[in-house]
Amino acid sequence: MKRVTYISRFSRHLTGKEIQKIAELSIRNNERDGLTGVLFTYKDVFYQIIEGPDETLDARLSKIFADDRHRDLFVLKVELNLETRAYSDWAMKTVILDDSQDFLMRPVSEMLGSITDTWMILEKYTPEKILRSIQLGENPLEEKVMHVTKTILFGDLFGSTTFSEKLESSLVFDMLETFFSIAIESIHSHGGTVSKLLGDGLMAVFNADETAASLEAVRQISAKLKSLRASRSANDPFSLLFAGFGISTGKVLEGNVGSVSRKDYTYLGDTVNTAARLQAVTRKVGRSVIFDESVLAAGNLSNVQPIGRYVPRGKDTELRLYSLTDLAVRLELPYDELKARIRDLAQ
Ligand SMILES: Cc1cc2nc3c(=O)[nH]c(=O)nc-3n(C[C@H](O)[C@H](O)[C@H](O)COP(=O)(O)O)c2cc1C
Repeated sequence: MKRVTYISRFSRHLTGKEIQKIAELSIRNNERDGLTGVLFTYKDVFYQIIEGPDETLDARLSKIFADDRHRDLFVLKVELNLETRAYSDWAMKTVILDDSQDFLMRPVSEMLGSITDTWMILEKYTPEKILRSIQLGENPLEEKVMHVTKTILFGDLFGSTTFSEKLESSLVFDMLETFFSIAIESIHSHGGTVSKLLGDGLMAVFNADETAASLEAVRQISAKLKSLRASRSANDPFSLLFAGFGISTGKVLEGNVGSVSRKDYTYLGDTVNTAARLQAVTRKVGRSVIFDESVLAAGNLSNVQPIGRYVPRGKDTELRLYSLTDLAVRLELPYDELKARIRDLAQ
C-alpha cells in the first residue's frame, strides 16, 4: 500500500455545496475501491491525504490530478510499502476548515495556508531532484556523493550581454523567459531534468540511456526558436533570439556540495566541463547544437554530421565534434553578424 499527501489550489471559486459533492462522490468511490484518507479545504486550498493499494490509488490519483476544479498541484509526500493504514475509518473524511467552529483548528488552518504558499514558491526555485527526494520522504541532505553516468546538456542564449547593454531590462527578461520556457518544456517532455539555471543559460541532465532524447529535445527547441525568429520583423529583438547547446555523456559526480549552511545539489566532472565548452563552440560553427563522440555512442541517432575536431581549453585530448543535419539547427546568422544586428537594434 501507499499513501500520497498533496496540496492544490481551487481553479475557481468553489461553494461549500460543490466541495460537499466532491466529498460524496469520493466516499462512494473510495468505499468501493478500498481507498481511505482525509480532504481538508481552507480558503482556496485543498489538502488531501489518500492511501490504499498501489494500483487502485494510482488509477484514482490520475483522475483526481486531472480534475479541473483544482490546479497548482504539489505532492508533499509519497509513502511506499505501507503495512497499515493511518485513516482506516474514513473513506474520505472531508473538513471545510473555514466553517470550523473549533478554535484549535484556526492555527492549523493558517499553517496549511502558509505551507501551501511557501511550497508553491519554493517548488519553482528548487532543483527537481531535491523536490522528488523530499516527496519520497527522503532527506536529500543525507545523500552521498555518487559516481554516475549521465548525459549533460548546457544551453544558453546568444548575445545576452549585448542585449543587456542595448535593451531595456524588462525586454531582456522577456527574452530570457521566452528562451527558458521553450527550453525547459522540451527538456521535461523528453525526460530530462533541469539541474540549474545559470543567468542566461541552463544545465540539464538526462539518464545515459536517454541520450537520444536529449538530442530530440534540442531539435525541438531549435525548431521552436527558429519559427519564433521567423515570425518577427527584422527590428524586433525576438527575431535575434538564438541559443546554443552542448551535449556530452560520461561519468560525473552527483551530489551535495557546499557548506554546512548552504548546499547545492550538482553534477561535477569532465563530462560537465566538456558539455559547457561544446556549448560555447556552437557560436563558431553556426549550429545550435554540438556534441562529442560520447553522445554518438548512445546509438539510434539520426541526421548526425561531423563538424571537425577540437581541443578543449586546458586539455590535451582532441574531441571529434558532431552536429545534426536538420535545417532547424543551422543558424541563419554568423555570431559576429548577430552581435552587430543586436547593437543596431537599439539605434
Ligand atoms: C481535491 C479533490 C479531491 C478528490 N478526491 C477524490 C477521491 O478521494 N476519490 C474519488 O473517487 N474522487 C475524488 N475526486 C474527484 C475526482 O477528481 C474525479 O472527479 C472522480 O474520481 C471521478 O469519478 P468517476 O471515476 O466515478 O467518474 C477529487 C477531486 C478533487 C478536486
